[in-house]
Amino acid sequence: MSHKSPKDFFAPLAVGAPAPLREIPARPSRAIHFFDPSNPKMAAKVPAMVGTVDVLLGNLEDAVKADNKVAAREGLVKIASETDFGKTQLWTRINSLDSPWVLDDLVTLVTEIGDKLDVVMVPKVQGPEDIHYVDRLLAQLEAKGGVQKPILIHAILETARGVANVEEIALASPRMQGISLGPADLAADRKMKTTRVGGGHPGYLVRQDPVTGPDGGPDIHGTRAVFQQDLWHYTIAKMVDACAAAGIYPYYGPFGDITDVVAAEDQFRNAFLLGCVGTWSLHPKQIEIANRVFSPSVEDIKHARRVVAAMGDGTGAVMLDGKMEDDASLKQCLVLVDLAEELAAIDPKLKELYAAIEIED
Ligand code: GLV
Ligand code: MG
Repeated sequence: MSHKSPKDFFAPLAVGAPAPLREIPARPSRAIHFFDPSNPKMAAKVPAMVGTVDVLLGNLEDAVKADNKVAAREGLVKIASETDFGKTQLWTRINSLDSPWVLDDLVTLVTEIGDKLDVVMVPKVQGPEDIHYVDRLLAQLEAKGGVQKPILIHAILETARGVANVEEIALASPRMQGISLGPADLAADRKMKTTRVGGGHPGYLVRQDPVTGPDGGPDIHGTRAVFQQDLWHYTIAKMVDACAAAGIYPYYGPFGDITDVVAAEDQFRNAFLLGCVGTWSLHPKQIEIANRVFSPSVEDIKHARRVVAAMGDGTGAVMLDGKMEDDASLKQCLVLVDLAEELAAIDPKLKELYAAIEIED
């Protein structure tokens, strides 16, 4: 028998650890803004960012130089101790489980600022065994540090084995909060032939059929439209299904070309439409894009409320503008309406925007 009894799934994994949550609350997390706590200039900006972004994440892993690993960890402890985060969540990305830093990352952060940390992002997750390891260690450290509420776990999907195991990862612990795509490490691990951090590639395309040439045959070398395809569609769709089935939240990940705000917006919107709730932000510019893209538009909400009003008790079918609406389209509209309510509760500008929407008959 390899599975735990369902009765034991929600038992704390250490004496004195807080009880696991039965449901992961739907807290807005449109942008997870990464900062390097070892960089004094970046760290100094963090307190002023509280309230402007849904999640602030102190990054300890890749992009922090080996010589700065300890300074990053200590910097995060200092920032967390001195800052009141209000409704903004504080997350961290710890070093990978095979690194020389991760044990001290977890021991220090959980025992010193465990009550301030909402989520620990675990990189390079390969399978449920990685989550089980962090799960037990967090419980032991929560007990040791007297942490009152359970710290949640977020996995980065950035290894081929992780993608193969994504459903088991999503279900591995009641602490599982969500999963992000890690396109850079994933590309390397899969031996993809790209050299970018997220986004598309001009070589990954579909070409329009040739038109008929002057000799009556196909004009192979004539002008033909090409359409770039999305390298990440398969992985994101698989991740969204695994997360939705487990009752946790899926995210896009990093988009490295900070200057290409248009392509970033496209990638974020694809992820939003497919079911993701947010993305990473590597630069303040990307926060604005993420907040806009991962919030339902006024048009979405106008339409959704109109369908809700027209559907009365929610059963049967009605025609609106020549289109059939029924229980299933109503449910889609309710996803948007519920999301708008969650976001309005923390974002006064959106609250005003959504409140001003008038529904047409
Ligand atoms: C993120 O960590 C990535 O590897 O894309
Ligand atoms: Mg990575």
